[in-house]
Amino acid sequence: MSEVHTTNRKLLEWVDEITRLTTPSRVHWCDGSAEEFRALCGQLVAGGSAIQLDEKKRPNCLLFRSHPSDVARVEDRTFICSRTRDEAGPTNNWVDPDAIKKTLTGLYAGCMAGRTMYVIPFSMGPLGSPVAKIGVQLSDSAYAAISMQNMTRMGRRVLDELGDRDFVPCLHSIGAPRAPGEKDVAWPCAPIEKKYIVHFPEERAIWSYGSGYGGNALLGKKCLALRIASVAARDEGWFAEHMLILGVESPTGETTYVAAAFPSACGKTNFAMMIPPARFKGWKIRTVGDDIAWMRVGDDGRLYAINPEAGYFGVAPGTNFKSNPNAMKMVSKDTIFTNVALKKDGDVWWEGMDGEVPEELTDWKGNAWKRGSKEKAAHANSRFTSPMRNNPVLSHVADDPTGVPISAIIFGGRRATTVPLVMQAFNWAHGVFYGATLGSETTAAAIGATGEVRRDPFAMLPFCGYNMGRYFQHWLDMQARIAYPPRIFMVNWFRRDAAGEFLWPGFGENMRVLHWIIDKVHGRKGGQETLFGWVPKAGDLELSGLDISHDRVDEATNINLDEWQVEIESYGPFFEKLGAAMPRELKLIRELLLARIASVKSHRRGN
Ligand code: OXD
Ligand code: MN
Repeated sequence: MSEVHTTNRKLLEWVDEITRLTTPSRVHWCDGSAEEFRALCGQLVAGGSAIQLDEKKRPNCLLFRSHPSDVARVEDRTFICSRTRDEAGPTNNWVDPDAIKKTLTGLYAGCMAGRTMYVIPFSMGPLGSPVAKIGVQLSDSAYAAISMQNMTRMGRRVLDELGDRDFVPCLHSIGAPRAPGEKDVAWPCAPIEKKYIVHFPEERAIWSYGSGYGGNALLGKKCLALRIASVAARDEGWFAEHMLILGVESPTGETTYVAAAFPSACGKTNFAMMIPPARFKGWKIRTVGDDIAWMRVGDDGRLYAINPEAGYFGVAPGTNFKSNPNAMKMVSKDTIFTNVALKKDGDVWWEGMDGEVPEELTDWKGNAWKRGSKEKAAHANSRFTSPMRNNPVLSHVADDPTGVPISAIIFGGRRATTVPLVMQAFNWAHGVFYGATLGSETTAAAIGATGEVRRDPFAMLPFCGYNMGRYFQHWLDMQARIAYPPRIFMVNWFRRDAAGEFLWPGFGENMRVLHWIIDKVHGRKGGQETLFGWVPKAGDLELSGLDISHDRVDEATNINLDEWQVEIESYGPFFEKLGAAMPRELKLIRELLLARIASVKSHRRGN
């Protein structure tokens, strides 16, 4: 047993109880030091679970290959076990909390045999911040322990901060006990039907079993900072959101902070770390967070956001020096890679990386791979886990305990038609309507048929810890508390022309859209009023230095009433699904828009 630096009764008793239940051969209290990190990495390499990458090419970096059944968050196996099914709502999986505790207690019995149990104290939010929340994860995965060190403020300093206070207990096991003398596999985990990611919202507790991967295993991220925190936020009057946070610095030194929600596969990390094009000399983007925002109303009536995380868990494929040069620099050291391909020279590779495709690789499953192979060398959901301190454009206030004042909230999805490049909501409730109806086309990396629009309200569908209709109501209700509400926008970088080509270049050029948003926030720009919001025309956007015709930009910002009629009608079944909890205001906005479309169309026909 390593040294125990706490007298917190609840923690000591809980560690004791779980040790008796899961019977690990050792208990290790993580101190969060660099020596501990190195030692754990050394053990993982020696045991065959990790590959040390070339020290010159990727210093302090490891590569892991997960079991092929353990490559992503498992939404089917994720449960919100509130006391009633209604509290979890129709968009979450629910099981009676007592029943699932019985099932899981059976699975946890003896599940850490032959393994070390790590006690991982972590803080979501800067240490000492009044808005931070402390969790303690018990886990039999050393991969989880080192990843938590990259992703959170972790270790002994958290125990010092915790003192005798309460914390969120996060129990995690990979569900693969080892008999004495049994040889271990590289990525032990339980079969899919035995994986459970379970949340007890009223108790503020998390029980995860059977998976070692990402959001299933690094419990501070989706489980605590979104599913459990969204419930706490509703109860306490704040927001826990699946949003990046960035600051836009103008050449005159004015910084405007925005928060933005995008469903998976929309380039959220790229946007959070964007480099403005040459035309924007003197402008800088600074990242506060790339995935999660906790936002509270400050004494001055503005909304302040912190990033509860301390690292990024980003998707590797498609990341390159064009899409995200800052991420490429960030992952050049101190990074844990999972399910990317390995080059002969001890470096990593993934689809979409700059330069030539290597002739030969070892793919994410550990098999020999040749250029031209039909199989992908890196898994579509392969990841990097990097500490935020390595982000070259990290905001100097990323660690500020009070957070940054948010002037704009942006929603965005991947839509080939209908949704313009950018539009601004008329007011708060209309902006909440944007969030509630957010949709994105599925890509090959996600479940479902490619190109189908999946409704993902506020990009929170898999992450809201309670009834989605009540979550919308919470957003509407919060307006009364915010004296200076952020303006709300919708963006779409992915609209296509009739030939299927993207109309907008995206990546760093999205700065031009952000620039319009910033001007709108500060009351410096107009835009055209349409039925669905304020929309710029080509002449309203700063386009100098960009080789694009005004016609194309007008096409990217066009509002087509027929498309919008289909769109707004399509919200009906989703609103119905939410039943009685669906706020009347949002249903009325939908009705109003349909009536307005009908009336404009009938006048166009000359009736
Ligand atoms: C993530 C996700 O991994 O949103 O951040 O799925
Ligand atoms: Mn995310």
